[in-house]
Amino acid sequence: MNLLLIIGAVVVLLFGFVVLFGAPYLPTLKKQTETALDLLDLRPGQTLLELGCGDGRVLKAAARRNIRAVGYELNPVLAIIARLHTWPERRLVKVIWGNYWTQAWPPADGIFVFLLNKYMLKLDTKITQEKSRPVKLVSFAFKIPSKKVTREKAGLYLYTYR
Ligand SMILES: C[S@@+](CC[C@H](N)C(=O)[O-])C[C@H]1O[C@@H](n2cnc3c(N)ncnc32)[C@H](O)[C@@H]1O
Repeated sequence: MNLLLIIGAVVVLLFGFVVLFGAPYLPTLKKQTETALDLLDLRPGQTLLELGCGDGRVLKAAARRNIRAVGYELNPVLAIIARLHTWPERRLVKVIWGNYWTQAWPPADGIFVFLLNKYMLKLDTKITQEKSRPVKLVSFAFKIPSKKVTREKAGLYLYTYR
């Protein structure tokens, strides 16, 4: 009983502490995932970067389109789940356990995020710093203030960085 309580407390802590660094875990549904990938319109062999990949569902959907996919995930439980979930697609998918704000990002052609309003300006600055080539961003639910949206569909916002 005590062990169960301790395990429960650790899980709650692991899911809770990420709010100090970004959005808490809330998965994107299949329909929105496919719409996000349609908006990004990446070709097979191009790379998608997902900032906060949760259980890996977006990485998996990208790999099924033959897109390389790299995801950062801070919560170690979710990082393990994402690795297991994308194991069949491991040739194309990489899950990095870490904080995407403090790491140098790999080169990418598209980025997917599901953050919170308060992080959108910080994200815009980080993309501008990190991009090594033109990159498209799709943000679920939240817009970047003062940046022009290239396209919008069903609450997903596409931005272009040249
Ligand atoms: C709203 S959820 C979105 C999950 C996934 N992108 C999806 O759409 O299904 C945000 C995810 O980002 C992770 N996260 C939050 N801040 C982070 C950070 N600074 N670095 C890495 N992951 C982070 C959370 O643990 C959570 O899994």
